[in-house]
Amino acid sequence: MQTLIDTHAHLYSGKFDPDRSEMVQRAIDAGVSRMYLPNIDAGSIDAMLALEAAFPEHCFAMMGLHPGSVQPDTYEQELALVEKHLGERAWAGVGETGIDLYWDKSTLDIQKISFARQIEWAKDLQLPVIIHSRESNEECLELVSAGQDGRLRGIFHCFSGTLEQAMRMIDLGFMLGIGGTLTYSKSTLPEVLREVPLESIVLETDAPYLSPVPHRGKRNESAYVALVAEKLAEVKALTTEEIARATTRNALRMFGVEA
Ligand code: NI
Repeated sequence: MQTLIDTHAHLYSGKFDPDRSEMVQRAIDAGVSRMYLPNIDAGSIDAMLALEAAFPEHCFAMMGLHPGSVQPDTYEQELALVEKHLGERAWAGVGETGIDLYWDKSTLDIQKISFARQIEWAKDLQLPVIIHSRESNEECLELVSAGQDGRLRGIFHCFSGTLEQAMRMIDLGFMLGIGGTLTYSKSTLPEVLREVPLESIVLETDAPYLSPVPHRGKRNESAYVALVAEKLAEVKALTTEEIARATTRNALRMFGVEA
C-alpha cells in the first residue's frame, strides 16, 4: 500500500469530538503514516497533546501561535507560553505562524512581530517553521528572506500564489504545502504546480477545513489526503504511487526524520 503524509491537520479540533479515534484510524488504514498537528493558541494545546499521546507513532505535535490568534491584549502572553513549551520538550515544528490579511488587517504589525519571533525560535531549535500566508505571500516572503541565515527551513502551508512566488519560496529553502484547494474547479494551482519541482511539494489536508472534491464543503479528514495525491498525479502526469513516494520523502526530509 502507498504511504502518504498529512503535513498539516488540526485533528484535535472539536469538529472531531464525536469520532476522533475512528477518523485517525481511517487515515492510518488508508496509508497515512504520519499526521502533523499545527497548534493554534493556548486553547488548543491540551487537545493537541492528548491526541498525540493517543497515537504517538502517527500524530506529531508542533508548537506555535496562529496569526488569527494574534490579538493586541494577549499576544505577548501567548508567545511567552509558546516559548515555554518549546523549551520543555521536542516538537516536530514551529507553527502554525505567518500572516493572515484575509480575516484581519488591523493586527498586521503584531502579526509580523509574532511571526518574526517564531522564525527565530525555529532557527535556534533547527525546526521547520509552518507558514500561513493567506493573502500575504509578499509580507511573509519579506520576513522569511530577512530571517534566512542558512538555518531556516519550512513549509508555506496551503500554498496559493504565482509561479514566481513559488520559486522564491523554494529558493529560500521552503516547500509548498498542497491540499484540497488543488481539486477546486477554479483553482489556478494546477498550472503553477506543473512547473514546480516535485521535490519541493508536500501534501496536507488542513482538516477539518478545505475538503477536496468530492467532499468540498463538508468536514475534511486526513484520509482525504489521498484525493490530493491523485489530483497532483494528474497535474504532474505521474502515477499516484510516484506522487506518494516523492511527497512522503520530501516530508520526512523537511521534518528531519530518517526514512
Ligand atoms: Ni492550519
